Amino acid sequence: MKSTTWPTFGDTTTATEVADAFSDQIRGKNVLLVGVSPNSLGEHIALAISRHSPSLVILASRTASKINQVIDSIHASKPSCLVKSLTLDLSSQSSIRSAAKELNALTQKLDIIINNAALNVPDYETTQEGIEMHFGTNHIGLFLLTNLVLPSVLSAVSSSAVPGSTRIVNMTSAGHRLSPIRFSDYNFRKVASELPMEERPPEGLPKALTDPERPYSPFVAYGQSKTGNILFSVSLTEALGGRGVRSFSVHPGSIWTGLARNLDEQGQALIKATGKVWKTGDQGAATAVVAAFDPKLNDVLGGYLADCQLAPAAEFATDPKIAERLWDLSEELVGEKFDLGGK
Ligand SMILES: NC(=O)c1ccc[n+]([C@@H]2O[C@H](COP(=O)([O-])OP(=O)(O)OC[C@H]3O[C@@H](n4cnc5c(N)ncnc54)[C@H](OP(=O)(O)O)[C@@H]3O)[C@@H](O)[C@H]2O)c1
Repeated sequence: MKSTTWPTFGDTTTATEVADAFSDQIRGKNVLLVGVSPNSLGEHIALAISRHSPSLVILASRTASKINQVIDSIHASKPSCLVKSLTLDLSSQSSIRSAAKELNALTQKLDIIINNAALNVPDYETTQEGIEMHFGTNHIGLFLLTNLVLPSVLSAVSSSAVPGSTRIVNMTSAGHRLSPIRFSDYNFRKVASELPMEERPPEGLPKALTDPERPYSPFVAYGQSKTGNILFSVSLTEALGGRGVRSFSVHPGSIWTGLARNLDEQGQALIKATGKVWKTGDQGAATAVVAAFDPKLNDVLGGYLADCQLAPAAEFATDPKIAERLWDLSEELVGEKFDLGGK
C-alpha cells in the first residue's frame, strides 16, 4: 500500500498537528466544508485549516446559528480568515439546488471540498423526495451538491500548478461494512432474505443491529449511506483522476459528537466500536486534513483513509463497477445526468 508523507501519523495525531505539517498546502486554497456545527468534526477541521491562511473557507450546513458559532470560534483564533456561510438542507434537493447557485455566485474556484455532513436517525424517515433518510441525505444529497459545484473544482485544477492537489474528500465510516448498496431495495422495503446475496448485510450481525424479520435497521441504513460515500470517491477518481482531481474517503474514528445525539445506549456502543479508542474532536478531524492536503497523495489515485493512513475498505465499497451502478442510480434519483467526460 502507498504511504502518506508522515507514516508516523496515527490514531492520536490531531488535525492541528496535521495542518501545521501541511501549512504550505493550505495557504491560498479555497475550501468548501459541508457539515459544521459546534463540537462536530467539521468545526475541528475548520479550526485547524483556518490558522494556515486559506484564501476562503465556505462553511455550508443545515443550521445558520451553529455555522455562526463556528465562525466566531475561527475568528477568535484567526481574525483575518475569510469565512462565508451558507445554509442548506441536504435532505431536500430543492434546497441543495438553490445552495449550489449561491455557492457558484460566491466563487468559481474550489480547490478543496470536504463533504463531512451526515445524519443518523433512529426511526424510518425519508427525504423530501421520498428517499430513505440516511441514503438520501448522506450520499444522494452530497452527490447532487458536489456535481452542481464541480465546474468550480475543474476551474481550480486548470489554475493549479500542482496536479493532484485539487481534492474532494468524502467523510465515511468503518460502519460502511454494515451494508453494501441495496440496488434492488435502497428504500428498505424488504427483509434481508428477500435480497440478492450481494446486497444483504454481512452474516452474523447481532439481532439488535439487523432483525431478519424487519425490513428497516437504522444501523444498516447508515452503513449503506457510508458505502455510498466511498463509492462516490471511487467514481470521482475514475472520472476526474486523469484531469488532476483526487478524491479520498475518510473514516475519522470514534468521536463523541452530535452524530450520536439520537442514538440509544446500544447505538452509542456501536459508534464506539468503529474505532479502537475514543478520539478527541481534534484527533477525529486529523484524517480528513491529511486526505485534503498531504502532497504525497497528489500521486495516489484515490482511496480510503483511517487513522491518517491509506487503509483497506470493504470490497463492495471499492469495486469500480459497483461505483458506476451507484452513479447511475444517483443520477436517476436526482433526475439529472452529470457528464464528467472521463466516465
Ligand atoms: N463521530 C464519529 O464517531 C464518527 C464515526 C464515523 C464516521 N463519522 C462521520 O464523520 C462525519 C462528521 O460527523 P460528526 O461526528 O461530526 O457528526 P455531527 O456532529 O452530527 O456533524 C454532522 C454535521 O452535518 C450536518 N448535517 C446533518 N444533516 C444535515 C442536512 N440535512 N443538511 C445539511 N447539513 C446536515 C450537521 O448540522 P446540524 O448540527 O445543524 O444538524 C452537522 O454540522 C459524518 O460524515 C459521519 O458519518 C463520524
